Amino acid sequence: MPGRLEGKIACITGAGSGLGRAIAGRFAAEGATIVAQDLRVGSAEETVGLLPDGDHFAQGGDVADPEAVAAVFAAIDERLGRLDVQVNNAGVDRLPGDGFDRMLAGEGAQIRLMEHAAFTRMLEIHAGGTFACTQGAVGLMRDGGSVITMSSIAGIAGWGPVHYSAAKGAILGFTRAAARELGAMGIRINAIAPGVIDTPMTAKVDDAMLAPMISMTPLGRKGTADEIASTALFLASDDSSFITGQWISPNGGIVTV
Ligand SMILES: NC(=O)c1ccc[n+]([C@@H]2O[C@H](COP(=O)([O-])OP(=O)(O)OC[C@H]3O[C@@H](n4cnc5c(N)ncnc54)[C@H](O)[C@@H]3O)[C@@H](O)[C@H]2O)c1
Repeated sequence: MPGRLEGKIACITGAGSGLGRAIAGRFAAEGATIVAQDLRVGSAEETVGLLPDGDHFAQGGDVADPEAVAAVFAAIDERLGRLDVQVNNAGVDRLPGDGFDRMLAGEGAQIRLMEHAAFTRMLEIHAGGTFACTQGAVGLMRDGGSVITMSSIAGIAGWGPVHYSAAKGAILGFTRAAARELGAMGIRINAIAPGVIDTPMTAKVDDAMLAPMISMTPLGRKGTADEIASTALFLASDDSSFITGQWISPNGGIVTV
């Protein structure tokens, strides 16, 4: 039986770790050719090395840098000539100067300790990166396509520091507005808003800090990267052919709006 993404070309940012690596693996197993993009190009190359044989390749670059993003899509155009699926997954939850460590040390609320540059850099990576990568991707979607953005329950319900929650909320607004513009081109765009998922990002967080969230989660555990890959596969494939401008939140039930 052909895979659900047989013959499709998919670019995944932040593909060198966690959710991006799991999505790359699932999409490739379903027949897609993968462009694995990451700030750390070596980790993207490692992801490509884990995939079944194909024309997959890795690209480096910071998604917050429009020139670096333009180079990624120029390389895709040159090597593969088109794109069908774009997953805007790259992201961070902490930045130097964001006051997290000082908050943990008992100096007070993080919002009072955060430097302005840390706030705007977070928006540049998540909102700016999502904008630039979507812009680059849709230019190569010659026969419609699917764009997936990566928000968070932080963007829906404020489960996160203010820079991260603001950035993840911006991604939801972007996704809704872009859906209105892109529908006429046969391009769908939807957001995934995960809860707490077991990846290198959350492994950095002390279990004691996550315990209250887990105890408020009806399913009583963290999600797995594979569970997010399943959601991404649904949104990338024709199984979701009438869905655009929406968010879906695999979160174990902690947020139910
Ligand atoms: N893990 C969770 O619980 C969770 C929950 C909700 C949302 N998310 C979001 O899912 C996405 C993936 O998270 P993860 O848990 O896999 O994290 P991760 O840290 O394991 O992986 C993130 C990847 O993104 C890359 N990256 C970071 N900044 C980049 C940039 N400027 N340009 C290009 N690549 C960059 C990193 O190098 C890394 O390989 C992020 O957007 C994150 O905010 C994660």
